[in-house]
Amino acid sequence: MENQEKKRILSMYQCTGTFTLGNYLGALRNHIKLQEEGYDCVYALADLHALTVRQVPAELRKYTKEAYAWLLAMGLDLSKTIFFIQSQVPEHCQLAWLLNCYTQFGELSRMTQFKDKSAKHADNINAGLFTYPCLMAADILLYQADYVPVGADQKQHVEIARDIAERFNGIYGDVFTVPEPMIPKHGARVMSLQNPLSKMSKSDENQNGNISVLDDPDTIMRKFKRAKTDSGSEVRFGEGKEGVNNLMGIYAAVTGKSFDEIEAEFAGKGYGEFKPAVAEAVIAELRPIQERYREIVADKAYLEETYRAQAPKAQAIARRTLSKAMKKVGLVQ
Ligand code: TYM
Repeated sequence: MENQEKKRILSMYQCTGTFTLGNYLGALRNHIKLQEEGYDCVYALADLHALTVRQVPAELRKYTKEAYAWLLAMGLDLSKTIFFIQSQVPEHCQLAWLLNCYTQFGELSRMTQFKDKSAKHADNINAGLFTYPCLMAADILLYQADYVPVGADQKQHVEIARDIAERFNGIYGDVFTVPEPMIPKHGARVMSLQNPLSKMSKSDENQNGNISVLDDPDTIMRKFKRAKTDSGSEVRFGEGKEGVNNLMGIYAAVTGKSFDEIEAEFAGKGYGEFKPAVAEAVIAELRPIQERYREIVADKAYLEETYRAQAPKAQAIARRTLSKAMKKVGLVQ
């Protein structure tokens, strides 16, 4: 297949902390597989989005490099995939400004993530938090992405990117490819182990609810053994069993087994056997990546050389789209 005939995939990840098992199962793992499935993949670390919440500068830098190393350890193949750091391609901010002017206050006000984050960070409801979806739309539209693989929590942001693209195209002709979200069957919404009604997140105050991809085996085992379930004991998917449903979702995503197969495997065994089995599956999945990660992250020179070389590749694509959009709206080229 010729390069330009391949469907383009674009996705990005915030690097405000170590990736969680939610990021891994809902996004990263699937994205690494897509590069083997004939797509033209472009991935990046969304460090500009991270600034919408106050960060400790040295930590943001550290987490960005660690996140970069983690994706390489997972097998991201730079001969097939572009993988860059968002702030190193200034076209993202430039297109974001244009898109800001084609996005309505009302539609940004309706974004669930804005409502959640402004409630959580009531002392810092900054303009960036509000216009976050415009920067994300710029990320997607600059690369003319056909598909945007994300976890279920980001679906609304991909939908607003579609609306913005359609609106812009409606005025100026076909400037942007209208993207479609791609949501995985299992793992699309991994919930906190301590509160299965809220999603697993790096910023969860209760770290027992969140599995980090760098947690050691004992920590992973301990967190799964303490996972909140219900007063029953049957490993069965059902209403009122959110904790068990979440563990089944994780086990299904990691092992590839269906819910029926999982129910049969643990029939008559209870949570006491199920929880450690989920932990073991997660430990086995993460162990080889953690080993490669330690080697890659230690080689600072290699890492820096690698991400620096990727930004111009992304920029070459982004520049073409930005120029077209600038010309269409009447900016002198
Ligand atoms: P972020 O950094 O919160 O998450 C990165 C990816 O991980 C998925 N994810 C989850 N999936 C399942 N269960 C969970 N508990 C869970 N937590 C996170 C997210 O859905 C996402 O796919 N705004 C985006 C980053 C971004 C972006 C983009 C994504 C910036 N520009 C352009 C796609 C395209 C975000 O904050 O994701």
